[in-house]
Amino acid sequence: MIAIYPGSFDPITLGHLDVMERGCQLFERMIVAVLRNPGKTPFFTVAQRLDQIRLATQHLSNIEVDSFDGLTVNYAKLRQAKVIIRGLRVVSDFEKELQMAHTNKTLAPEIETVFLATSTERGFLSSSVVKEIARFGGSVDHLVPKHVALDIYTKCYGKTQPDSAPTATNPITQMSPSVEQQA
Ligand code: PNS
Repeated sequence: MIAIYPGSFDPITLGHLDVMERGCQLFERMIVAVLRNPGKTPFFTVAQRLDQIRLATQHLSNIEVDSFDGLTVNYAKLRQAKVIIRGLRVVSDFEKELQMAHTNKTLAPEIETVFLATSTERGFLSSSVVKEIARFGGSVDHLVPKHVALDIYTKCYGKTQPDSAPTATNPITQMSPSVEQQA
């Protein structure tokens, strides 16, 4: 049975990768489908995201990475997929995901949505969280595959490491430790 795993993946996180690895064990073939959404300005281009996902999933033999536009169910039909996979992290995901599953069911009753619970340690993780941390100079090495972290740092800072030394407006916090000790 073929399953598609649609999403923005902007960028792929270790949470997504966890869903991909588990989906590959459940289905004969899994197609990761990146939505081409002209209405959104993405962090990474579709081509970059496809490359990032392909590199991250090299160890999975029954996975394919593709992009699509239009309705997910139409893409699923085109690829003869009977299942749409979505990851569930926290309860707040559920409302939106259930609505999407119901909508897709009205459009294509023959296609089932299967929810995979992401591992508990990745429950907080999202592409938005990753981008937020990176924008404020934090390390995302523990949240995304290594090559994706390098892409993020290069895009944010033009170099392969974040510069996360904070600055402050309070003069006391700007003092060097030796000055603080003397005070
Ligand atoms: O990673 P995301 O952004 O949560 O993925 C959402 C996605 C791409 C799966 C969803 O927005 C989608 O399926 N978009 C395609 C349009 C569509 O089929 N809409 C009907 C379902 S509400």
